[in-house]
Amino acid sequence: MLNKEVTKLLNEQINKEFFSAYLYMDMANYYADNSLNGFENWFFVQMQEERDHALLFRQYLLNNGEVVKLEAIAGPDKVYTNFRDPLPLALAHEQFVTASINNIYEVAYQNKDFRTMQFLDWFIKEQGEEEKNADDNIKKFDLFAGDPKGLYMLDNEMKARMYTPASLVL
Ligand code: FEO
Repeated sequence: MLNKEVTKLLNEQINKEFFSAYLYMDMANYYADNSLNGFENWFFVQMQEERDHALLFRQYLLNNGEVVKLEAIAGPDKVYTNFRDPLPLALAHEQFVTASINNIYEVAYQNKDFRTMQFLDWFIKEQGEEEKNADDNIKKFDLFAGDPKGLYMLDNEMKARMYTPASLVL
């Protein structure tokens, strides 16, 4: 059994991770609509990773005998007016998720819930990578996507991203 507040926050995190998956699928759809299939691929892989994050939180709750409560997932409501628009939104979203995970960690720490802290260690590190990836995308776009040829080449680079399942096994 876990602390009630920690359990509540972990359940809410499932929703946030599934929302992240929705958000990134929305971005993938936007790029697909505009024939930028490399960007589409990059965000589709990101969507798969977010789904996996949600499932890890689910599994952790189940492994600890807690009830998983699934809430409605909000629909993404952003309108993109140019190909750069999703990129800073993705970074801001990752920063939001980082703050959310840090908050769970803090509550776990306050409750001497060392097991949850250890579980969250993987996510703390993962968020560092996620923020860097999102920031790199903005920097690369600003450096290389100033003309159609540069955008084409960057799109080709984004095609190379491959999905690999999360390294955390519960
Ligand atoms: Fe699951 Fe991108 O945070």
